[in-house]
Amino acid sequence: MKKNFAYSADFDEVTEKLFREAVYLGEGNNGVVYELPNRKAIKIFLKKKVCNDEGSILAKTNGSKYFPRLYKRGNLYVIRDLVDGKRLDKYIRQNGLSEKLIKNIYELLLEFKKLKFKKLDVRCKDVYVSDSEKLMIIDPKKAYSRNVDYPRHLMKGLYKVGVLDEFLTEIRKINLKKATLWELKFLRYCENENTHI
Ligand SMILES: Nc1ncnc2c1ncn2[C@@H]1O[C@H](COP(=O)(O)OP(=O)(O)O)[C@@H](O)[C@H]1O
Ligand SMILES: [Mg+2]
Repeated sequence: MKKNFAYSADFDEVTEKLFREAVYLGEGNNGVVYELPNRKAIKIFLKKKVCNDEGSILAKTNGSKYFPRLYKRGNLYVIRDLVDGKRLDKYIRQNGLSEKLIKNIYELLLEFKKLKFKKLDVRCKDVYVSDSEKLMIIDPKKAYSRNVDYPRHLMKGLYKVGVLDEFLTEIRKINLKKATLWELKFLRYCENENTHI
């Protein structure tokens, strides 16, 4: 249980009715998420600003196959598609990292660029993998505000699961220049952080 659970959302009548059938899915630092009927998910936020930021990102990513479709925005809640699958890191621990999955991750990162994100990075815990290895982002935090020009958190997560070398080997085949740059930047970052890899 997180430290703050003082949630109070400003539901309209329709949402109020749907919420009676809500099933708890999970909680993060910013909010709590429930499944609603018809395969939708409602996230209730603690702060209006965070709700507004996330709502605007989802509005901009609407139409992209990597992001849950946005249905409704309140002051303290957002209704979007339910996302199935497993968290990327957990999925890899159970199933390994296939060539197809690496290619899909690479394409996901290209999509960030297409969507004009400033943060070309994502945490493993925010990427969900379906049975057919399609990817979805559940929590597109700071996509347009934080400047990150290579997938640092993603690489850190893959390193923790023990598949970073495998990942980079495959990325080298797809785009050698990018792979070399990412590796260099990541090594530099690890040196600064005093993390030995
Ligand atoms: N669209 C969704 N479909 C299914 N589960 C979700 C969805 N969005 C969030 N969750 C679940 O709720 C948890 C918290 O959501 P998240 O958006 O990460 O909140 P926070 O911004 O507080 O980190 C996630 O870790 C996940 O388990
Ligand atoms: Mg989260």
